Amino acid sequence: MTVKIRATNVSKFFSSRGGAVTALREFHLEAQEGEFVCIVGPSGCGKSTFLRILGGLIPASSGQVTLVPNKPETPLQSIVFQEYAIFPWKTVLDNVAFGLEMRGMPRAQRCEIAGDWVRKVGLTKFADAYPHQLSGGMKQRVSIARAFANDPEILLMDEPLGALDAQTRAVLQEELIRLWEASRKTVVYITHSIEEAVLLGDRVILMTAHPGTFKCEFAVPFPRPRAFELTGTPEFSRLTYAIWKELQSEVKRALEQQQ
Ligand SMILES: Nc1ncnc2c1ncn2[C@@H]1O[C@H](COP(=O)(O)OP(=O)(O)O)[C@@H](O)[C@H]1O
Ligand SMILES: [Mg+2]
Repeated sequence: MTVKIRATNVSKFFSSRGGAVTALREFHLEAQEGEFVCIVGPSGCGKSTFLRILGGLIPASSGQVTLVPNKPETPLQSIVFQEYAIFPWKTVLDNVAFGLEMRGMPRAQRCEIAGDWVRKVGLTKFADAYPHQLSGGMKQRVSIARAFANDPEILLMDEPLGALDAQTRAVLQEELIRLWEASRKTVVYITHSIEEAVLLGDRVILMTAHPGTFKCEFAVPFPRPRAFELTGTPEFSRLTYAIWKELQSEVKRALEQQQ
């Protein structure tokens, strides 16, 4: 096994009007190449902050973060956010091709690659549509296709399905499993849903309530390929319940903090 991501003692402080805020406290995570790691924690515990640090969008205040590259020709990491981070003035195809365009790939080549990903997420008929013509689920398919088309070594996903209704979410969860199982990229996936984490992940890491830090982790032993039917099995229920028992006190603490 090769370590792809190593984060040790990562803390982040923000200064705000009310003084300093500790958004993340001595958090650590190690992900192996090709591993799908899910992070679950109560609202406000620092999940997005950690992902933004991993993605290089903001610096850590202290601690070390290492992402290990081994393919210099492709990007090291791409991020998918919860909100639809796609350009309203670009078509579906051009949105999916955006990362390739940024890398200076010629139009014909990037359209071919992007077209292939548009097809893989079932949007062929909408390739020339603009985001305002798409449903929420379709917009998120565009974001996901763009991230995969970019062919990064590491995919960082911050609640990518969090804004979708339950049925759309279930469909996209299956699509995501299929895309990931075909590519086996290293993924750090943030979700507030234990069920989603257990369905998708190889490992689930729990964070404490704010200021968030590592609480504990669970291996997810279910074989692949996985499908949504897994969620109906007693083994799935047992594991999600065991995780909930650990998370429950943190969620309560997070709610108390809001009062
Ligand atoms: N830019 C910022 N300035 C000040 N505080 C911030 C900033 N970003 C996040 N925070 C605070 O850091 C904590 C963690 O935020 P966040 O990482 O967004 O949590 P999560 O994604 O787990 O809901 C919260 O208390 C939030 O209010
Ligand atoms: Mg967040």
